[in-house]
Amino acid sequence: MSMIIAHRGYSGKYPENTMLAFEKAYEYGADGIELDIQLTKDSKIVICHDEEIDRTSNGKGFIRDYTLAELREFEFRNNMYDLEDETEDNIKIPTLDEFLNWLKTTELMVNIEFKTSIVEYKGIVVKAIELVKERELEDRVIFSSFNHNTIKEVKELDSSLRCGFLTVANLLNPEEYCKKYEVEYYHPMFVSALLSPKIVTDCKKLGIGVNAYTANDSEHIQALIALNIEGVITNEVELAIQ
Ligand code: G3P
Ligand code: CA
Repeated sequence: MSMIIAHRGYSGKYPENTMLAFEKAYEYGADGIELDIQLTKDSKIVICHDEEIDRTSNGKGFIRDYTLAELREFEFRNNMYDLEDETEDNIKIPTLDEFLNWLKTTELMVNIEFKTSIVEYKGIVVKAIELVKERELEDRVIFSSFNHNTIKEVKELDSSLRCGFLTVANLLNPEEYCKKYEVEYYHPMFVSALLSPKIVTDCKKLGIGVNAYTANDSEHIQALIALNIEGVITNEVELAIQ
């Protein structure tokens, strides 16, 4: 059975990439969490999808221009109000540190996506690996990125860390591409034009796992589970579990 991986936490119902969304994903039975990481002005790793905070918070501007303390002043409620179990803290921007401390208290896996395609964020790879290793969470982490140089950097630092290549378009022979760089997972968009049964079979033959993003209705979720891929990345945790 495919794992259900909560995209940015249970983001269909709670503010994406907040501790509230992560805790709710766990509460409703997800097997794992997908999240996005960026670096602050004072070099702290924070969890946020966009390089700017305008869309998801009541602030404005680039994460790289704020210190962590400054960012923690904002609410990251993503225009969602009257949320069950909301507290002052669990809708603030989380650090990777804080998230991993919480993860350690669960049995969840995490897919940590490096958002390094727009801002370079020097040092983010070394720092993220350090935080994971400090807590001995290596076996529960898959690092991914659309920037495949970032994944190469992870592998050069420690080839045993599990990684996935994210793509938006169809790769020719993705299983061979992953194998060539000794990357364990292929992370394509879920649509059938990009993820055919043949691709899944070819990946399986070479021992490459497939985690597809982001399927949010039951028809698509069921089709992915029927393909028997490793993970379905979804905003809709309760629907997927059902
Ligand atoms: O990791 C899967 C998915 O999250 C990639 O796209 O833009 O939602 O980060 P995006
Ligand atoms: Ca992501």
